Amino acid sequence: MPLASSPIGVFDSGVGGLSVLRALLVAMPNERFVYLADSANAPYGERGDAFVATRTHAITQYLCEQHHIKALVVACNTATAAAIHEVRSSHPELPLVGLEPAIKPALAVTKTGHVGVIGTRGTLTSTKFGKLMTSLADQAHFVVQPCDGLAHAIERSVAQPEPRPGNSLSATETGALCERYIHAMGEFGTAHGQMDTLVLGCTHYIFVAHELRALVGPDVRLIETGEPVARQTKRLLEAAGFLNQSPPKKHHGEAPSAANQTAPESAPSIRLLTTGPVAMLEAAAQRWLNLPANCCETVSVP
Ligand code: DGL
Repeated sequence: MPLASSPIGVFDSGVGGLSVLRALLVAMPNERFVYLADSANAPYGERGDAFVATRTHAITQYLCEQHHIKALVVACNTATAAAIHEVRSSHPELPLVGLEPAIKPALAVTKTGHVGVIGTRGTLTSTKFGKLMTSLADQAHFVVQPCDGLAHAIERSVAQPEPRPGNSLSATETGALCERYIHAMGEFGTAHGQMDTLVLGCTHYIFVAHELRALVGPDVRLIETGEPVARQTKRLLEAAGFLNQSPPKKHHGEAPSAANQTAPESAPSIRLLTTGPVAMLEAAAQRWLNLPANCCETVSVP
């Protein structure tokens, strides 16, 4: 039975969900987190629903049984689209937050009424996304672009040195893919008929925000979901009475006790797990969250 001091589980096909973890850490600094990157099986985007749903179930089970999580954030649009309904019905007791491309927030900010949406093929061809688009189709003109290979290229880019400012975009695999997909979508800008808003419908894409920004120009809004998801997670935990009110004990130096439901002092507040090579997760954690390599380990989730 999880306690208020139990960790929040967060998972993605790979390192992309670290963008969501970053927002969760800002919103809830008193919480413990277990992040699982299913990098051995990434990318999910071109794998098909059945595979992604099987992985989502296995990982949810693993995080509940081995880490006694008190809530789960599915920090992956593709897994949310393929499996969130089933996870909700197989774990009715678990506070659960999924991600979907932030179309409604985009509608609130677009002035031209032309909105671009990028994501994985799995997300953008899903029934869930189809229903969302149908319900909002009369409110704006949407250009929807699946970006095959981009999440995978972002995973691989972690192990490479960061591109130097001023280098041409096509010099990197991620830059070349961003260029190809953004150009295929049409014109971005704030003039009549141009897309003034771009929805990042995959948690990996915020890590190529500078490449996307260079392509769409300075005035186009890039919309991602980390912060609203963190707020929603906090609301759910508050409602369930599961928010950890006290800072982790290691900052206070007090002895842990069952009575105040505080995590044992030895329990680290952030654990980053991967089913793939640990070096990739370590590099991503260091580059994007400024976290030390010793929070990372490889695990097996069959
Ligand atoms: N980061 C994931 C998403 O938000 C999936 C990327 C992938 O594995 O293809 O959809």
